[in-house]
Amino acid sequence: QNDILSKLPLKGKKVLITAGPTYEAIDPVRFIGNHSSGKMGFSIANAAANLGAEVYLISGPSHQKINHSLVKRIDVVSAEEMYKASHTYFKDVDIAILSAAVADYKPKNVANQKIKKTEAALEIELTPTKDILASLGKIKKQQFLVGFALETNNEIENAKSKLKRKNLDAIVLNSLQDKGAGFATDTNKITIIDKDFNEKSFELKSKKEVATDIINEIIKKINA
Ligand code: CTP
Ligand code: CA
Repeated sequence: QNDILSKLPLKGKKVLITAGPTYEAIDPVRFIGNHSSGKMGFSIANAAANLGAEVYLISGPSHQKINHSLVKRIDVVSAEEMYKASHTYFKDVDIAILSAAVADYKPKNVANQKIKKTEAALEIELTPTKDILASLGKIKKQQFLVGFALETNNEIENAKSKLKRKNLDAIVLNSLQDKGAGFATDTNKITIIDKDFNEKSFELKSKKEVATDIINEIIKKINA
């Protein structure tokens, strides 16, 4: 049994993964969120654990389930909570893959009581959330740091500038150009760009297969 385990390529490695959306409270019963299912991040967690990694899966609200002895699931709700949990685990990991669809803005003030409706228009002032990925890029040491990019135009250029700006080792570009990629679907079409701007494009595949491709590319780059 030990022989089999020791041959797994991620045996002894620790991997941090963020997944799902974040919810930013408006009042005790309402929030700002998005349609991320968490499927991509959970699939990556599963793929990494299957190769022997010890996985910390930090997830926003999601219906996804995971049952793997090597995966520790940490549930969070807001971007701030995800930021704190990510920093708690980041120091010790070898790889961090940030696939969460973190809200870019949150209500500046959260009402203590449910906001009552009136005839007047309602304005909610928003303030930026912390960029978790960029903050980890600033403090990274041994960690191989991977981000995602979702773009609708100038995809490759925008992804490359995100990669540099956030000090990443690689970025996974989610192509929306093909139907069947993105939030609500079970499939994705990705291009992986590394810090030397090498690009590798993959076919439209199930998120499970995409997760395996991502993990395999990371293993190749770490061992190169
Ligand atoms: N990300 C993060 N914390 C945030 C916002 C984004 O960690 N507050 C991470 C995402 O998990 C993803 C990457 O940053 O890995 C890129 O997210 P994306 O939304 O594509 O980019 P942004 O930098 O938020 O820029 P924009 O939404 O304007 O394109
Ligand atoms: Ca964003």
